[in-house]
Amino acid sequence: MGRRKVMLIFGTRPEAIKMCPLVNILKGRTEDFDVVVTVTGQHREMLQQVLDVFGVVPDHDLKVMRTDQTLFDVTSDVLTRLKPILEERPSAVLVHGDTTTSFAAALACFYLQISVGHVEAGLRTHDINSPWPEEFNRQAVDIITHWYFAPTEISRQNLLDEGKPAGRIWVTGNTGVDALRTTVRESYSNPELEWAKGSRLILITAHRRENLGEPMHRMFRAIRRVMEEHPDIKAICPIHMNPKARAAAHAELDGFDRLRIIEPLDVLDFHNFMAHSYLVLTDSGGIQEEAPSLGKPVLVMRDATERPEGVAAGTLKLVGTDEDVIYREFSRLLSDPDAYAEMSHASNPYGDGHASERIADVLAEISDSTRE
Ligand code: UD1
Ligand code: UDP
Repeated sequence: MGRRKVMLIFGTRPEAIKMCPLVNILKGRTEDFDVVVTVTGQHREMLQQVLDVFGVVPDHDLKVMRTDQTLFDVTSDVLTRLKPILEERPSAVLVHGDTTTSFAAALACFYLQISVGHVEAGLRTHDINSPWPEEFNRQAVDIITHWYFAPTEISRQNLLDEGKPAGRIWVTGNTGVDALRTTVRESYSNPELEWAKGSRLILITAHRRENLGEPMHRMFRAIRRVMEEHPDIKAICPIHMNPKARAAAHAELDGFDRLRIIEPLDVLDFHNFMAHSYLVLTDSGGIQEEAPSLGKPVLVMRDATERPEGVAAGTLKLVGTDEDVIYREFSRLLSDPDAYAEMSHASNPYGDGHASERIADVLAEISDSTRE
């Protein structure tokens, strides 16, 4: 069928973590693919960290990031700066998930009538405002998408329920689990983990746009109250580079010697920190997919999740952003061994770590003429 040009477009940390394993698999199949990597640079430092770990060097970088960027900034810059690059007319463009990069890139492809493959298609909360703006982004991308790479049966069913054609949906597993296979190492060590040795380690992250401001202050206040009551725990909070998330973390958590706020960890470090942790508190999406494979309980500080598989597996619990609810659920997991045991089984609802290979197999079979 000949070599086809496949362009992967991504721009934030989580997209990079889930697209780089695929980049490397596609690049390994030189007989099938001519691979082009375009990064939007929606994230700068946090994107570079991931590229470095996976050894991926982009062919194009749109460098869109600005401090305190708005959704208008990111959407319009990605859209206009992609146009000349897409004029290379790849046979397929792959985007990932639900970010503004993914939405604007898919829209640019639609305007130029280039076929889009959506990696991590079909996740839904069905509430357009939660998570915001991600639920809109992922639904909008799926209107444009030609090849749907659904991570699970549930995501496939969501797509079928919306009338997407069954013959263009493939259940592949999540490529984030592919990344975990390469990062978690028995022999891993780190000075921060040495510091936490002998204590139960709590890992904390927070960044969601809808949690910025008062909800994030409540989240951190609840965590601090629990920490103060449990002298045998230590916590590490690798804080996202969003200045608003940083301000909330420092306002509520500074001056407490069993809790360290540190710079974002690179993905190799973060996965190993997770593997060494007792439990995780987060509002992140990707962490909800990684934790079940590692058997680590996660209290999800959000009102809705598009990852029901992890809830069904018992690893995730939605606790919202109410201070007292977080306080109660966090305290319970520290004091009640049965509650903890129930949430700490390892399982693989998001796949076996071979999602990228499945996506590559599908792409090797398709041709431009499949576009309807
Ligand atoms: C974005 C995605 C979100 C995803 C998250 C992952 C959208 C609308 N949001 O949200 O879906 O969950 O990434 O982390 O697409 N910053 C830096 N350096 C960096 C990265 C960010 O300084 O490397 C700062 C900048 O001031 C930037 C701000 O963080 O303006 C916010 O970044 P942005 O990508 O707009 O929002 P996120 O909350 O990161
Ligand atoms: N992660 C990381 N370093 C950190 C915190 C998280 O590498 O300091 C990884 C984490 O393992 C997961 C991804 O980043 O793969 C999640 O990204 P984030 O929470 O920023 O975005 P979301 O998944 O919510 O879109």
